[in-house]
Amino acid sequence: MNIGIDKIGFFAPHLYVETEDLAIKRGVEPEKFTIGIGQEKMAVAPASQDAVTLAANAAASILTEEDKQAIDYVIFATETGVDHSKAASTYIHDLLGLPPYTRAVEMKQACYSATAGLQAARGHIALNPDSKVLVVASDISRYGLNTAGEITQGAGAVAFVVAKDPKILSIEPTSVYKTEEAMDFWRPLYSETAFVQGKFSVDQYINFFLDLLDRYNEKTNRSLKDFDALLFHLPYTKMGLKALRKSVEAADTEDQERLLSGFDISKYYNAIVGNIYTGSLYLSLVSLLENSQTLKAGDRIGLFSYGSGSVGEFFTGVLVPGYEKHLNTDYHTAMLKKRTALSVEEYEQIFEEKLPVGEKDYTVDTTKDPAPFVFTGVTEHMRQYKRQA
Ligand code: HMG
Repeated sequence: MNIGIDKIGFFAPHLYVETEDLAIKRGVEPEKFTIGIGQEKMAVAPASQDAVTLAANAAASILTEEDKQAIDYVIFATETGVDHSKAASTYIHDLLGLPPYTRAVEMKQACYSATAGLQAARGHIALNPDSKVLVVASDISRYGLNTAGEITQGAGAVAFVVAKDPKILSIEPTSVYKTEEAMDFWRPLYSETAFVQGKFSVDQYINFFLDLLDRYNEKTNRSLKDFDALLFHLPYTKMGLKALRKSVEAADTEDQERLLSGFDISKYYNAIVGNIYTGSLYLSLVSLLENSQTLKAGDRIGLFSYGSGSVGEFFTGVLVPGYEKHLNTDYHTAMLKKRTALSVEEYEQIFEEKLPVGEKDYTVDTTKDPAPFVFTGVTEHMRQYKRQA
C-alpha cells in the first residue's frame, strides 16, 4: 500500500529577532551567526504560545472538516511538554474538534520523535487504510541568554497528515535507524533550558548521518545518484550543510551541485524561524517543496532525522504527481511577512519572563498575540486555551 504525507504545514509565532542584531549585542561578528551558523532570524514565542498552541495553530492551517472526520490517531512529538503525565495531544484533540473515537499520545526522543510518529502512523494506516493520522511536531528551543547555543534557538510547529494514496510524498518501505546512549544534549526535569556539549553533539550528528546513509545504500543498492534531494534535521542550517558536504566529498560534480543546490532551498524557512527541534526536518521538507523550481513528480528525497541522546533514522520519499497543488505556500509566505521584529532587549525581556510555577491560578496577556489559538493561563492548576480567531 502507498502510504505517506497527504498534507503538511507549519506555524511560527509572530515575533522574531534579527540574528545580526543579536551578534552585535553579544560582541560577535554578524557573519559568524549568518554564515558560520547560517541563521538569519530567530522566532521568539510570547508567553501566550506554548507547544500546544503552536501545534494547534499549525494543524488548523491544513485540516478540512473532511480530514478531521477521518483522523483517528493524533501523535504529538515534542520535547517542550507542558505536563509530566497528561499528553499535549489531548489538548489539541479538543481545540481542533477531532472525533471522540481517536487515539491521542505524546512521543519524546529529543528532535527525533516526529519521525517515530511518522513511522507509527504508517503502521496504523497499514492496519486501518481508511483512517488518517495527524502528526504534530512542536517545540520552543531554549539554551539561555549569552550561551553558545543561544543563536540556535527558535519556536514553531509542523503538522502533517499521514494517509494512504498520499497527495504529497509517498514514503518508501526501507528505512534505517540507530540508537546510541550519549549525553550530547539533554534537559533535566528541573531546567527550563537545555544542557549541551556543543562540539560533541555536532560530531555525533555527522557520524550518525554518514553511518546511516552507508547502511541505507548498502541495504537498497542505491547511491547519491538516486537522490534528487537530501534533507536534514536542521538545529541551525550550517549543521546540515556540514553533514552534506562530508557525504558528497567523493561524489562527482553533478551529484554535488544537485544536492547542494537542493539543500540551499531546503534551509530557507529554517534560517528565518530557527531550531524548532522535532519539527526542524519537516520544516526543511516544506521549504524545499514550496520554494524549489526544479523538483518534479517521481523525484526521490532522502530524509535524515536526528535526536540527541541519541536516535537517528534515514528514510526516503517519492514525490506524488500534482503534489504542488496541495501545498500551503501563500499562507506561509503571508504569515512570515506579517511577523514583528523585536529589539534584542525586548527578546531578552520575553525570554526572562517567568510564568508562575506552582500557583493554582494566573492569567496570561493574550491581547497582542494574533495567533488563532492562545494559552490564557491556569485555573485550579489546569492549563487554559482558547481560539480567538
Ligand atoms: P560556537 O563555539 O559558538 O561556534 O558553537 P564555533 O566557534 O564552532 O563557530 C561556528 C561556525 O562559525 C564555525 O564554522 C566557524 O568557523 C564559523 P564551522 O567550523 O562549523 O564550519 N565562524 C565564522 N564564519 C564566518 N564569519 C565569521 C565567523 N566566525 C566563526 N566571522 C555550536 C557552535 C553549534 C556548537 C553551538 O551553537 C551549540 O552548542 N549549539 C547547540 C547544539 C547544537 O545545535 N548541536 C547540533 C547537533 S545536535 C542536534 O542536532 C540535536 C538538537 O537539535 C537537540 C535535540 O535533538 O533535541 C540540538
